[in-house]
Amino acid sequence: MTASEPSGVAGATSVAIIMDGNGRWATERGLPVLEGHRRGAKTMKQTVKDAVALGIRELTVYAFSTENWSRPSDEVAGLMEMFAELIVSETPELDDEGVRMRFVGSRRGVSDSLLKQMDWAEAETAANTRLALFVAFNYGGRAEILDAAERYEGGGEEAFAKLLYAPEMSDPELVIRTSGEKRLSNFLLWQSAYSEFLFSDVLWPDFDRAELEAALREYASRQRRFGARE
Ligand code: IPE
Ligand code: IPE
Ligand code: MG
Repeated sequence: MTASEPSGVAGATSVAIIMDGNGRWATERGLPVLEGHRRGAKTMKQTVKDAVALGIRELTVYAFSTENWSRPSDEVAGLMEMFAELIVSETPELDDEGVRMRFVGSRRGVSDSLLKQMDWAEAETAANTRLALFVAFNYGGRAEILDAAERYEGGGEEAFAKLLYAPEMSDPELVIRTSGEKRLSNFLLWQSAYSEFLFSDVLWPDFDRAELEAALREYASRQRRFGARE
């Protein structure tokens, strides 16, 4: 354990989260789906703070997949509006907290104004070192691998990994998925080759620090072998 883990939870320093269950959270309460996404965004903000407090150095969150465009158009439009608002409203505070923001995903199909805001947030926070927050937006693992393959000219795994959307991102030690679904849904296909997986039944808007700590404790109890004999 290092000094950057004040809570005493010996754990992963590189964590990725599939933030799933916003829709069900809203439906259970008779609320519009977008209200679920709003609550999910709130949870994400808190999770970033908790991650910093728990000594996590890299956090990747799955915010919008390449397949999510196939949702009803009002949900997609509402999400895009929400992302734009969130970038504007949250970047200054994230910057104050020492968070470096990085968007990972394809730029294809994303509006120019949103791309500009993403570029702005990345530039604003580029010098921060406390936590690297990778926001997987318009992200698909297969698209990422295909994009890299088009530019690959040999050199093996290391050279290939440099062609991925965020070459500076470490492979996640732990991938958490909320809402009880047990699948990757096209998330970090290359990077999660040897990740540990933690599936929680909690719907994303209800995820909290206790859940994150429990996930890190579970991770600490896992034995990673990477294919080798002890
Ligand atoms: C995850 O929550 C957020 C996004 C995919 C943008 P969902 O909206 O998938 O929630 P469920 O799976 O319908 O409950
Ligand atoms: C994965 O969740 C994408 C995000 C959390 C952003 P989905 O809800 O889109 O995945 P499926 O459709 O249940 O596999
Ligand atoms: Mg879902």
